[in-house]
Amino acid sequence: MTNPNTYQSTFHTDPQATATAPGRVNLIGEHTDYNDGYVLPIAIPQLCTVAIGRSSDTQHHLFATDLDQHFDLALTDVPTGFAAYIVGCFRVLEEKTGITLPPLNVFVTSQVPVGAGLSSSAALEIATLRALRQLFAPLLSDIELSDIELAQLGQRAENVWAGVPCGILDQMASSIADEHHMLFLDTLTLETKRLPLPAGTEILVIDSRAPHNLTDGAYANLRLQCEAAARALGVPSLRHILEVSALHPLEGTVLFNRARHVVTEDNRVLACLEADAVHFGVLMNDSHISMREDFEITVEQTDVLVDLLQNSSGVYGARQTGGGFGGCVVALVELGEAQAIGQKVLTEYSSAGFEGRVVVP
Ligand code: GLA
Repeated sequence: MTNPNTYQSTFHTDPQATATAPGRVNLIGEHTDYNDGYVLPIAIPQLCTVAIGRSSDTQHHLFATDLDQHFDLALTDVPTGFAAYIVGCFRVLEEKTGITLPPLNVFVTSQVPVGAGLSSSAALEIATLRALRQLFAPLLSDIELSDIELAQLGQRAENVWAGVPCGILDQMASSIADEHHMLFLDTLTLETKRLPLPAGTEILVIDSRAPHNLTDGAYANLRLQCEAAARALGVPSLRHILEVSALHPLEGTVLFNRARHVVTEDNRVLACLEADAVHFGVLMNDSHISMREDFEITVEQTDVLVDLLQNSSGVYGARQTGGGFGGCVVALVELGEAQAIGQKVLTEYSSAGFEGRVVVP
């Protein structure tokens, strides 16, 4: 069956609630969130939209036009594909609030590129949870789900139902961040602070089109290595290590390199809070080297793109962004120059044998 184009044409009635949530780009602070560390994302203009209403039969009916997929599921079915994220949100909301959700119709459209490191899954979770919060407001009135709680529910849905042991960066960014401010987040305390971009700058995001996939085990493995490093050092998490010198018991092991990335990355995020454009750019460049050498999560395409960007005039700094192994790169550039720099770098990237695309602006 081909997927029709709207909630109305699919279900022959209007949705009872509609909500949106943005993707995000992480400016710096990579693989620090599940180490209780610091991150600095910003929302991107691309949104996921979820329209929802009660189903007229006993099943959930879930449509995602962009994926050209749909699922009809009994309430107790185990969801797969994109349904895992949506039904995962249903289940974690039920678990948290004690309410039982009725069979639902859900229609998803999303402009957030999938598999590009821009949190398409978190945008789907947060848009779904916002739509549910709206639809079931009368039932939830005593509970009052905050935006932070929504992020926590989204993370739980992803951990338990999509099987990705992610931290809380993406869901917090999608739930709390806006397009005009960097969102500083301390993932241990969930304290947040909105900050302007460094004066005279804007961001440029380019998709390398090397697809990344966090469900294939590499991400989970890195997380386990970080946890093993923390255990070996006798701290609850690597956030509690403030300086590289404290890592000497691990020297000569792969855990040393993983931990060094996390410790130096946390320090770079904190330094960014006070940095002007030039210093911020240097910290982004250092972050890319650390991800490439110590964390080993960059790929040829993102290394090439970052190199091209770093050698372009008007660029303060550039790095791979998101979970890694491909996806997007982000650059901090002179205000008003992002579009032109993006086109120039794409041409050079294509001369190197790759096809990318500008995602922001
Ligand atoms: C993915 C995860 C986040 C975070 C980043 C890396 O986006 O979902 O929790 O760990 O990777 O910074």
